Amino acid sequence: MRRQIPAAMALRLHQDKFFVTSPFLPPPRMLMGPGPIDADPRVLRAMSGQLIGQFDPQMTACMDQTMALYRQVFCTANQWTFLIDSTSRGAIEASLVSLLEPGDTVLVPIFGRFGHLLTEIASRCGAKVEAIHVPWGSVFDPQQVADAIRTVQPKVVAIVQGDTSTTMLQPLEDIGKICRDAGVLLYCDATASIGGNPLHTDEWQLDVVTVGLQKCLCGPSGSAPITIGERALEVIEARRHVEAGIRAEHHVNGHGLRIASNYFDLAMIMDYWGPERLNHHTEATSMLYGSLECARILIEEGLDAAISRHALNGQALADGLLGMNLKLYGTQANRMHNVVGVYIPEGVTGNAVRHSMLHDYGIEIGTSFGPLDGVIWRIGTMGYNARPDAVLKTLACLEQGLLSEKHSLTPGAGVAAAKSVYASAAQ
Ligand SMILES: Cc1ncc(COP(=O)(O)O)c(C=O)c1O
Repeated sequence: MRRQIPAAMALRLHQDKFFVTSPFLPPPRMLMGPGPIDADPRVLRAMSGQLIGQFDPQMTACMDQTMALYRQVFCTANQWTFLIDSTSRGAIEASLVSLLEPGDTVLVPIFGRFGHLLTEIASRCGAKVEAIHVPWGSVFDPQQVADAIRTVQPKVVAIVQGDTSTTMLQPLEDIGKICRDAGVLLYCDATASIGGNPLHTDEWQLDVVTVGLQKCLCGPSGSAPITIGERALEVIEARRHVEAGIRAEHHVNGHGLRIASNYFDLAMIMDYWGPERLNHHTEATSMLYGSLECARILIEEGLDAAISRHALNGQALADGLLGMNLKLYGTQANRMHNVVGVYIPEGVTGNAVRHSMLHDYGIEIGTSFGPLDGVIWRIGTMGYNARPDAVLKTLACLEQGLLSEKHSLTPGAGVAAAKSVYASAAQ
């Protein structure tokens, strides 16, 4: 007897067929939130290249070039500078699961949502997590980190450089030295800050840094560059256990505990990126092409020039917002160049303005998380969108949204304030 398909299921099957005949066409948008941002067309073009085999000499040469270019992006001589095939969160997880054994102590200074993410990942690694806090909208004095290190004696300090949730940028120069002097490893999540703010891996003595493409590096999310220094390498090497099936006689297990994740085992991923080219995952080839192009674009422009471009456009955006009778969020001296937090004014429905920006003008801006959800908007000017025309259009359209919500402002004042920042810079 034929089984009767319930009506709801039959309808779903009928509707599902529709998607075969109608391709997804992304609508025109300008992404001016905290990331992702519009990818540079050069990156999209690079990603459309045909696939090649993962051990093709051209492929391995492309991987080597990628390592060389990211060494320049990270300002490091670290040999082990490569890509994790995942979004930025995967590279954080790879770093922490490879450095931390169950029971190890990790110190996490938290100044926003992404600090909490570090504690979340570290605790899943079985680490003993010690967190210190400053109010959101501010950053740590290095002495606070030094004092906490003395108290909790961690193996690793894990910290975010630019916490997109609050738009704050943690100065790291002194924290690197403090960790080095105390014999503690320093892991840094610079996903949102690299390319738009200074980051000197070697000079600042950062042991492991991970990032993503989707902010100031002009690419899509889905590939996460990482750099690993000598001290962290020692810890990871000691935990190397090559997986069964590809293991040869000369592979000797490290004396440390096997890394708890297979996919995020940095020792095994390094064996794939290194001279032995031991098979691990199948490299995400299109993301590799895209990541390489992101690095080429940045190095061609020059790190200092890219940082200055982000600083200028960030300042123009901030001044434009002030010009619209808005109040900026957080300590401005510590604001990231590439994203500005601004209070949603009293009486204005934040989501109504965001909705109008998106549907009337095709411009996306964001709010934030947790205690800042619905309290601030976050407006980014980063990567491909760190441009005067993008900033000026965003301000002009935001003004319309604010006027329809009856916010009191002088029409044209926001754009004029931003233009005067550009005019002063041009002199
Ligand atoms: C500072 C920071 N860290 C980590 C992440 C997580 O990145 P992903 O979504 O690529 O995993 C983000 C994403 O916005 C971020 O801003």
